[in-house]
Amino acid sequence: MDTIIKKIDKLQPNSEENKRIYEKAGAILKKGGLVAFPTETVYGLGADALNREASEKIYAAKGRPSDNPLIVHITNMEDLEKIVETIPKEAYIVAEKYWPGPLTMIFEKREIVPYETTGGLDTVAVRMPSDETAREVIRAGGGYIAAPSANTSGRPSPTMAGHVEEDLGGRIDMIVDGGAVEIGVESTILDMTVTPPMILRPGKITKEMLAGVIGEVSEDRAIIRPDSGVAPKAPGMKYRHYAPKAELSIVEGPAELVVGAINQMAVGYISKGYKVGIIGTEETVEKYRAGVVKNIGTRSDEATIARHLYAILREFDAENMDYIFSESFSTGGIGNAIMNRLLKAAGHHVINV
Ligand code: TXA
Ligand code: MG
Repeated sequence: MDTIIKKIDKLQPNSEENKRIYEKAGAILKKGGLVAFPTETVYGLGADALNREASEKIYAAKGRPSDNPLIVHITNMEDLEKIVETIPKEAYIVAEKYWPGPLTMIFEKREIVPYETTGGLDTVAVRMPSDETAREVIRAGGGYIAAPSANTSGRPSPTMAGHVEEDLGGRIDMIVDGGAVEIGVESTILDMTVTPPMILRPGKITKEMLAGVIGEVSEDRAIIRPDSGVAPKAPGMKYRHYAPKAELSIVEGPAELVVGAINQMAVGYISKGYKVGIIGTEETVEKYRAGVVKNIGTRSDEATIARHLYAILREFDAENMDYIFSESFSTGGIGNAIMNRLLKAAGHHVINV
């Protein structure tokens, strides 16, 4: 299959060419095809969420296990009411504050949503993205677009169109290129079917931000203590996602000691003939003495770190590293989401210095 790739002109949002691209994407989606598109978090691989065959195609293209449910993307609250049974009042409060945005909520599904979309569950995950390109594609495709991250299962989520092409080129109908995404890690997932609502995946919208509007919010134990042996409640969180080809270790401790330890390990492995990658920050990159050093962002603004995380993991894959050492980034805010993804990529391998 030839994959059509079209670039959106963000400087002229209402241009005729952009309109033609959205019309094309909409026509493909309505016929049951697959279209990848940017959202503010990561690129999604879209299909008509109410069409069972279309949803099945997503699993095939990604090589995704069929028990791993998809998120349904919408653009307005009226559309939410058509696909879910009951909307608790807390959900309206959260939606009022954080939708459209990087947040997914889980509800009891209505019959109209096929089990192919929900991985066999009676609940459905719904998100209303803020990215304008995403919203145009969703509207053009009929208003209900199932979209997991547009990567091959087990690879880092795509944060630019080139990543999608790398993984899914030739396997999907179209890629809408809207440039690099803004946030870089997937949405927060909040389960509204339990009391109090429970966070199943950390993201930019933090527990504190949610508690600030609805009071008590709990967190899936599997994301707080991933080594506890408890199965995560979001089926997708049990897989070793985001796994780079290299062995990734996170080095934790006082900044000076971390840099010293990484330098020492890098020199040791390089002398044995291995290729070593280092994930440093604006504040430290100058201090590394060996290996391929990448600047992931600045500690003074962790959003920059979230934005570059997946692209750097992909670059190291392309460069065939044997070992990667990363600094640790655990200071609340989006740092929780960054560490959740990084720890998974590292198979929870942490070196304390
Ligand atoms: O930011 C995002 O959420 C991106 C963009 C494209 O919107 N999408 C995304 O989808 O990250 P995906 O499929 O890569 O991750 C969805 C996660 C999986 O871990 C899945 O198991 C969980 O959401 N999930 C979906 N429906 C669920 C449900 N009904 N109950 C529990 N977990 C659910
Ligand atoms: Mg994913």
